[in-house]
Amino acid sequence: MKPIRKVVIPVAGYGTRVLPATKSIPKELLPLVDRPLIDYVVREALDAGIDHIVLVTGRGKGAIEDYFDHAFELETGLEAKGKIDILASVRKPILAAGSVSYTRQQAPLGLGHAVWCARDIVGDEPFAVSLPDVVIDAEPSALAQMVGEYEKTGGNIIAVEEVAQEETNKYGVVAPKGERTGRLFEMSGMVEKPEPAKAPSNLAITGRYILQPEIFELLEDTPRGAGGEIQLTDAMDALMKQQPFYAHEYEGVSHDCGSKLGWLQANVALGLKHPELGDSLAEFLRKNR
Ligand code: G1P
Repeated sequence: MKPIRKVVIPVAGYGTRVLPATKSIPKELLPLVDRPLIDYVVREALDAGIDHIVLVTGRGKGAIEDYFDHAFELETGLEAKGKIDILASVRKPILAAGSVSYTRQQAPLGLGHAVWCARDIVGDEPFAVSLPDVVIDAEPSALAQMVGEYEKTGGNIIAVEEVAQEETNKYGVVAPKGERTGRLFEMSGMVEKPEPAKAPSNLAITGRYILQPEIFELLEDTPRGAGGEIQLTDAMDALMKQQPFYAHEYEGVSHDCGSKLGWLQANVALGLKHPELGDSLAEFLRKNR
């Protein structure tokens, strides 16, 4: 069984649900406590043993590339002033030379199209996909949990979680096959953004995927689906008919940082856990409720 070495992170989206905050900065660089959103998924991937980051970027997203690189003047200035702790925090995100690749999605044709844009960089091996606006607070991380499952089962695995039935039209939703016994289960199908009355369950796809490279051929022929976009969910539904495919109900809490409320909630939830800021934030919230 081939190991999971690469993660594809789509970062070309406009971030329309958080405008105007994202009018002139990429959504992926919105701060979550003291780091940009993109830092969370990249570190999650590295912690899960992945060693190559593939960012599918787009127009206006160049600042994301700079975040993972040296900032020579800033670093020299901090060094000269002896600000060693801050210098370390500035250097921490720098990725090892050659361990990050960028490709561009030239038109907003959907998540399936964004993943397909990474086909030549991924090549003929299984890989992960992580959506950066879905921040999952979990220990071990959601992706690490999935890689652990993959090492036992092989095949394809997607993260799922229960959502309110009336919210199924915001997500890809899976249909479990038969009775569910544990956190890992097979499915009979999946559908992108079904209306609540038509949803096969309330188990939503949660922005983490382990996929076999055959997904790329299927994406090639996937017609536009929900929202007029080429949907990864539709290609996965087809792949499920050919290969072992599992849903993993991960242990942890997800935050939808692509929405204003979700982003605010994530800042509070993770801020309260921050070793230096948590106590002061808790006190502030107590006084201002
Ligand atoms: C994407 C996927 C969807 C998934 C969701 C949350 O939708 O297409 O299946 O449930 O992310 O991870 P989007 O939020 O980009 O519309």
